[in-house]
Amino acid sequence: MRSEHPATLAAAPEQGATEEATAVAHPNIALIKYWGKRDEDLVLPRVDSLSMTLDVFPTTTRVRLRADAAHDQVTLNGAPARGEALRRVVAFLDLVRERAGRAHRAVVDSENTVPTGAGLASSASGFAALAVAAAAAYGLDLDATALSRLARRGSGSASRSVFGGFAVWHAGPARGTAQEADLASHAEPVPTGDLDPALVVAVLDAGPKEVSSRTAMRRTVDTSPLYESWAASSGADLAEMRAALLAGDIETVGEVAERNALGMHATMLAARPAVRYMTPATLAVLDRVLRIRRDGVPAYATMDAGPNVKVLCRRADAGQVAAALWEAAADGTVLVAGPGPGARLLGGDGR
Ligand code: PMV
Repeated sequence: MRSEHPATLAAAPEQGATEEATAVAHPNIALIKYWGKRDEDLVLPRVDSLSMTLDVFPTTTRVRLRADAAHDQVTLNGAPARGEALRRVVAFLDLVRERAGRAHRAVVDSENTVPTGAGLASSASGFAALAVAAAAAYGLDLDATALSRLARRGSGSASRSVFGGFAVWHAGPARGTAQEADLASHAEPVPTGDLDPALVVAVLDAGPKEVSSRTAMRRTVDTSPLYESWAASSGADLAEMRAALLAGDIETVGEVAERNALGMHATMLAARPAVRYMTPATLAVLDRVLRIRRDGVPAYATMDAGPNVKVLCRRADAGQVAAALWEAAADGTVLVAGPGPGARLLGGDGR
């Protein structure tokens, strides 16, 4: 962030010249899930969540201000953004403009190496990179905590991608003013003991999901009779997970992560109508994870708003786990990720 990496901020001496900044961010995978909002506008979650930021699938986003433009222009992976994707970026830029007291429209170019909308946290890296780049381009001087709060407004999970390694996102107090809640709801790094983790990602279907996480969350909170009990047990899961991370106890970290994720999916299955992201391919990989464990290798599964499975294990076991998942993943792809860095600005030469 700003203290480590000075922004590329060029003054705009003439009409049409730009002030610009470029940032990179990585996706994160939650081990304790965020599912359900208590305030959709402020993106305040119902529960605390905890994740690992990955060292794969970075998103790089450049924001350039245009004094002479009437509209924002947004390009995602080389194609103009439209519809809901464009609306979300423009709404986010409006928030930054309001805070910066500046009206300039922007040109946003985002290169996302995550398969978009497939439950692989493309919105987390996307909005974390956009928050860091847009704040710098509009001249907002924000520390990592404030950037996390800002990124949260684009996509809840993005609040965690501002930080590297393991991060917890605080839901904040259920009572109090909107301003108090907004201030309290941000991510922060989580201390860990001697843990050398890997997440082996089985990409079973990289296509966009049928039900967005936003819609699915709302439906789950509104209609699932299982939601409240999962939310209540998630608090205990988080406390146990934090202690296990500190103790370097990967078995407990994995067990808690797996039950938390399966519980989240159970809440969705009980929603009316049901939301089901798991496919036969997902279940085949889950079966395989059980067999890997029976063979004595600690490996634990987690899934998000999509069919893909991420398997937590020791880095030393990652090769063996990946080989087993290749067999089970049929037409899918398997890759090994480790803990990655937080979001940061890039220098003028793109490094
Ligand atoms: O921030 P969103 O809307 O992409 O929410 C994603 C929620 C999950 O990925 C399913 C869980 C999580 O905590 O990341």
